[in-house]
Amino acid sequence: MKNILSTIYNFSIQFNTMANNIISTSTTTVIVILFSLLLAGKSQTFSTSLPRSTLQLDKQNLTRLHFFFHDVVGGPNATAIRVATAPITNTSATGFGAVVMMDNLLTVGPEPNSTRVGRAQGMYASADLSNMSFMMVQNYVFDEERFNGSTLSILGRNPIMSPMREFPVVGGTGVFRFARGYAEARTVFINETNGDAIVEYNVYVLHY
Ligand SMILES: *[C@@H]1O[C@H](CO)[C@@H](O)[C@H](O)[C@H]1NC(C)=O
Ligand SMILES: *[C@@H]1O[C@H](CO)[C@@H](O)[C@H](O)[C@H]1NC(C)=O
Ligand SMILES: *[C@@H]1O[C@H](CO)[C@@H](O)[C@H](O)[C@H]1NC(C)=O
Ligand SMILES: *[C@@H]1O[C@H](CO)[C@@H](O)[C@H](O)[C@H]1NC(C)=O
Ligand SMILES: *[C@@H]1O[C@H](CO)[C@@H](O)[C@H](O)[C@H]1NC(C)=O
Ligand SMILES: *[C@@H]1O[C@H](CO)[C@@H](O)[C@H](O)[C@H]1NC(C)=O
Ligand SMILES: *[C@@H]1O[C@H](CO)[C@@H](O)[C@H](O)[C@H]1NC(C)=O
Repeated sequence: MKNILSTIYNFSIQFNTMANNIISTSTTTVIVILFSLLLAGKSQTFSTSLPRSTLQLDKQNLTRLHFFFHDVVGGPNATAIRVATAPITNTSATGFGAVVMMDNLLTVGPEPNSTRVGRAQGMYASADLSNMSFMMVQNYVFDEERFNGSTLSILGRNPIMSPMREFPVVGGTGVFRFARGYAEARTVFINETNGDAIVEYNVYVLHY
């Protein structure tokens, strides 16, 4: 009998301790929840969920752009100019490490005097030790009426000896906000004497 009473007594002590723990746990929980609510209220000031219609993102357009890129590296009016080299650039088979800044003309036809559509501003650099290949970082800025001032940003690998190279469109501004897509580049003319080149571009862009 004494044993049973003692067991019950011990049990009730344990039970009370558990209950106290639960109460203090739930008090802590309430405090944590209140605090989180305060923080949540605060975070809404920098992040807001919006319906897609706010920015007319309900209908997506696919646009194809076709133009020619004039890489003028020689002569007094060069638009692509080497700005840096590595100690191994001159002895490397691929000119590794050479960095060229460009502000190249874009036109509707392959002739440099055909209608201008914009410029390709950015840089390319020899980035492959064994196979001739450039890393291209280009911002196309257009001045054709509907696209005036809009830009497309292109980043990609350019194995210049391949007949066709493909670069990802990583974004855009203006008409091209939220842009995604790709560009196909084909060299249509190269002057072996001075390195000037004309490259045909077909760019497929999804935008809104
Ligand atoms: C999307 O396409 C529609 C229909 O062709 C055109 O009216 C609209 O201007 C285009 N929007 C953009 C941003 O190009
Ligand atoms: C360079 O540009 C100037 C001014 O536009 C022009 O007069 C000249 O003929 C150009 N030179 C070459 C080699 O294209
Ligand atoms: C590489 O060669 C060019 C001439 O072709 C020269 O101007 C330049 O100084 C050379 N660079 C190095 C690092 O030797
Ligand atoms: C462009 O230049 C070529 C010669 O290179 C000339 O025959 C043609 O008439 C010019 N076109 C325009 C629109 O100026
Ligand atoms: C690089 O060139 C070698 C031959 O020189 C070729 O076997 C290899 O596939 C090329 N690699 C790439 C990534 O193009
Ligand atoms: C393009 O926009 C600039 C100003 O941002 C303006 O001066 C120029 O006339 C515009 N060109 C066309 C073709 O609309
Ligand atoms: C190639 O470049 C050289 C040197 O600048 C020039 O004399 C020649 O006319 C160019 N050839 C063509 C087809 O443009």
